[in-house]
Amino acid sequence: DPVKRAHTLSDLRAAAGKRVPKAVFDYVEGGADDEISLRRNRSAFDRVEFSPQVLVGGDIDTGTTILGEPAELPLVLAPTGYTRMMHHAGEPAVAQAAAEAGIPYALSTMGTTAPEDLHGDNLWFQLYVWRDRGFTKDMVGRARDAGFRALVLTVDTPVPGNRVRDIRNGLTLPPRLSLSTLLDGATKPRWWWNLLTTEPLRFASFDGDGSLAPSDIGAKMFDRDVTWTDLAWLREVWDGPLVIKGIQSVRDAKKAAEVAADAVVLSNHGGRQLDRGPAPLELVQPVADEVGDRLEVFVDGGIRTGGDIAAAVGLGAKACLIGRPYLYGLMTGGERGVTKVISILREELERTMRLVGANAITDLDRSRVRLRA
Ligand code: FNR
Repeated sequence: DPVKRAHTLSDLRAAAGKRVPKAVFDYVEGGADDEISLRRNRSAFDRVEFSPQVLVGGDIDTGTTILGEPAELPLVLAPTGYTRMMHHAGEPAVAQAAAEAGIPYALSTMGTTAPEDLHGDNLWFQLYVWRDRGFTKDMVGRARDAGFRALVLTVDTPVPGNRVRDIRNGLTLPPRLSLSTLLDGATKPRWWWNLLTTEPLRFASFDGDGSLAPSDIGAKMFDRDVTWTDLAWLREVWDGPLVIKGIQSVRDAKKAAEVAADAVVLSNHGGRQLDRGPAPLELVQPVADEVGDRLEVFVDGGIRTGGDIAAAVGLGAKACLIGRPYLYGLMTGGERGVTKVISILREELERTMRLVGANAITDLDRSRVRLRA
């Protein structure tokens, strides 16, 4: 049982690669263009240096609040598209694992479960703005009526990034059988069986039209002319917490504070959009210094261990998001796999807190963490 055997997220990543077709794994794993941002997101964590306090003693408590709600960890499961393609149990399995772990989960606009069909304790809805503002407003209303707590507007996607792996693999959504998928699929019969026999892949919020490349789907629906003015409009149609995801500079974090966003996610979409932007981890400290008193600062990209979470929080982040990591768990073992990912991160975070002498999340600050030059 690969879920039981896994001790780290990279064990689950390796197991996932054996479960799903290569084109699906590459879709999860890949970044844009030369994948420089993808690699830098991760290598930025090599700069982290802890300054431990010894002989502290006491109990460890990883609990915190995120957007004013209690959470058992400073962790959020990020929105990801086409989740049922990774595993037929899809978003409901992810939502269940998140609810049991006491952390939020954000359903993607490009997800494959309708908001009305998803149940959890602390669900957020990630929005892409459509050219049709009326349709966008309806979507926001559906999320509100379905009980979603927060709205996450993703702003790093005026056009789809250039995902070279998907182009080379000829990936379409839903996947189509071709000679190469058949050959690869011959070693993954269970995945194909589930894809063909469970619910058809439908989007969370709209009817797709046939099998298309992911970038074509994005290009057809996203509005590349969304501007800060639209945020004022969004503030009017959504009265709950508003999170802006995909902020990549101090300058734009200040603008987010000016439009009264409740939080920003420092993110380059996991290296899947603009290649060679800054590594989000390196923005945490300057952004927290500038606007940390006006909004919550979240960060994602390259978080793979509980020590990474401790580092990001210590530098000033209120919470971290993970994308690929929970998908590794999902691909490997459905809901159990996602639960395993969260529990590995929890144990690693607790151990790191113990070793740096931080009993509470609030003890994780710049007296314990810095980035080496
Ligand atoms: C994403 N991400 C994403 N973000 C978003 O706002 N809407 C979306 O539909 C998607 N879809 C998506 C699919 C897949 C397969 C991945 C891997 C990522 C980005 C995601 O929310 C998050 O920002 C990154 O995944 C964070 O980086 P790590 O944790 O994957 O390194």
